[in-house]
Amino acid sequence: MFNTMTITKASGALIGSLLALLLLFWAGSSLYSIAVPGGGEHGEEVAQAYSIPVESSGGGAEVEEEQIDFPALMAAADPASGERVFAKCKACHKLDGTDGVGPHLNGVVGRAVASIDGFAYSDAMVEHVADAPDWTPEALQAFLEDPKGVVSGTKMTFAGLPKPEDRANLIAYLESQ
Ligand code: HEC
Repeated sequence: MFNTMTITKASGALIGSLLALLLLFWAGSSLYSIAVPGGGEHGEEVAQAYSIPVESSGGGAEVEEEQIDFPALMAAADPASGERVFAKCKACHKLDGTDGVGPHLNGVVGRAVASIDGFAYSDAMVEHVADAPDWTPEALQAFLEDPKGVVSGTKMTFAGLPKPEDRANLIAYLESQ
């Protein structure tokens, strides 16, 4: 009886202290778990500390990408490089005033959209006149980046020139034709 009592007390004390330990552990781990998200935050802070310079340069580059300073690109454009880019257009476009799969492109810079008599433009291109009547350098560079995006339904099957420099060089070359 007495023994059982002692055992009960002892195990009670043991369980009690285990409970206390558990509580301490829980408190500790909750502190830790606060510290862990804190650590996470710290990690994020570290990431931010890293990404602040990275982001500012990366972000800067993105901004440059999105807002192309096209006049500056045109000012620095190289018609000779543009002639090489024109190799991608040659299959369909000529520069001698005759039309092929596409209309001739000599004199295209500043020319009215869909204005070559006798060339069978798509309805999409004819309708594009209402949005943008002339092939200004800006209109050309937007069209050449993504022909089907700018003139949806165009029959010009060309994926586009992703590099702004290529577009500027090409337009400079076309201007010289
Ligand atoms: C696979 C043939 C093909 C290729 C390659 C191609 N084009 Fe075209 N292009 C066309 C066709 C066809 C049209 C007429 C589009 C329409 O009517 O929808 C056209 C229309 C155009 C127009 C509008 C002309 C106008 O009179 O309104 C421009 C500008 C143009 N292309 C520029 C280019 C340039 C620059 C390249 C090279 C980077 C190029 N194209 C590559 C077939 C092509």
